[in-house]
Amino acid sequence: MSHLFDPLTIRRQIFANRVFVSPMCEYSSDDGFANDWHLVHLGSRAVGGAGLVLTEATAVSAEGRISPQDLGIWKDDHIDFLSRIVRFIHEQGSVAGMQLAHAGRKASTYRPWSGNGAVPVANGGWPDVLAPSAVAFADNYPMPQALTLDGIARVTNAFVDAARRAHQAGFRVIELHAAHGYLLHEFLSPLSNQRQDHYGGSFENRTRLLREVVQAVRRVWPEAAPLFVRISATDWVEGGWDIEQSVELARHLKLLGVDFIDCSTGGNAAQAKIPVGPGYQVPFAERIRRDAGILTGAVGLITEPSQAEHIVSSGQADAVLLARELLRDPYFPLRAARELGQEIGWPAQYLRAGPNTTIPR
Ligand SMILES: Cc1cc2nc3c(=O)[nH]c(=O)nc-3n(C[C@H](O)[C@H](O)[C@H](O)COP(=O)(O)O)c2cc1C
Repeated sequence: MSHLFDPLTIRRQIFANRVFVSPMCEYSSDDGFANDWHLVHLGSRAVGGAGLVLTEATAVSAEGRISPQDLGIWKDDHIDFLSRIVRFIHEQGSVAGMQLAHAGRKASTYRPWSGNGAVPVANGGWPDVLAPSAVAFADNYPMPQALTLDGIARVTNAFVDAARRAHQAGFRVIELHAAHGYLLHEFLSPLSNQRQDHYGGSFENRTRLLREVVQAVRRVWPEAAPLFVRISATDWVEGGWDIEQSVELARHLKLLGVDFIDCSTGGNAAQAKIPVGPGYQVPFAERIRRDAGILTGAVGLITEPSQAEHIVSSGQADAVLLARELLRDPYFPLRAARELGQEIGWPAQYLRAGPNTTIPR
């Protein structure tokens, strides 16, 4: 019997199944606004049957964008079009979630198909690239300014305001992006955090900003709604952030009201050697789930229905997040259900293409 298509309840939110759309930057916004591309891109994956559709990393402040074309939620004007996307996703029986992000020292860089490294101000980049410490990610990346204490407070407030706007837009899940070498991860990792104050040094100090953001967001985010955090469970570099610290962090986050840890890795060290292969990050989700007693999501080279099924049914993770396979096939969940012999509802409009046994959504 398949468990991939078992519903999952977190707080008062029910997810129809455990195939989630992993956040994917589309680099297709002007001034942070969502547009028809986002509606069709995210909407297609809801039509395809995913239990949760997460937006790409959505910038909580303009200077926190990765590229000039990032999606954003730093002003109220952003809400209107986002709410249209949310409505469509919910009409398909899926759940809309938003990943909130600040790019830290990896801000003001080219989108992948336009170049590499820092975007000069003349080409739409910005000078106020912020990080825990003035340490650049790589030679061709911006040299960041170390955040002042006031600046850190502004970052926390930006996450809170963004969470409030996400709620107004109708999103039912927030995922805080604390992975892939962006600002919150930069504070966690000794590779990027060389501060001497109470935000640097010890584990307690390096985790302080993320804990503060979680607490502040939880105060404005509805009690009934799930809060996810994506972490990089390891930097894959000796002396960097690692799985032991991730387990400890997850224990703390759980006590602060985080419901689900989305377990990715890497992104904070240009020189890291990562043993990429099918399901290579699954053991991190399994370890954190077991040792911190919190729900986890597994992500990374999950491409086959039987593989996804095994991860969930063997208790390695509570859900799987798929990125590239869902670009190749937005209908992966419908296909997976068919392959696994599981009945799931097809959109009424597509019923004649579905298996005989399907019931309309
Ligand atoms: C086009 C693209 C954009 C991505 N953008 C984000 C993002 O905005 N936030 C994030 O946390 N991860 C992002 N990722 C990473 C994916 O969410 C995922 O963790 C990674 O691709 C591994 O999963 P996969 O093997 O299923 O693709 C992106 C990946 C791709 C391919």
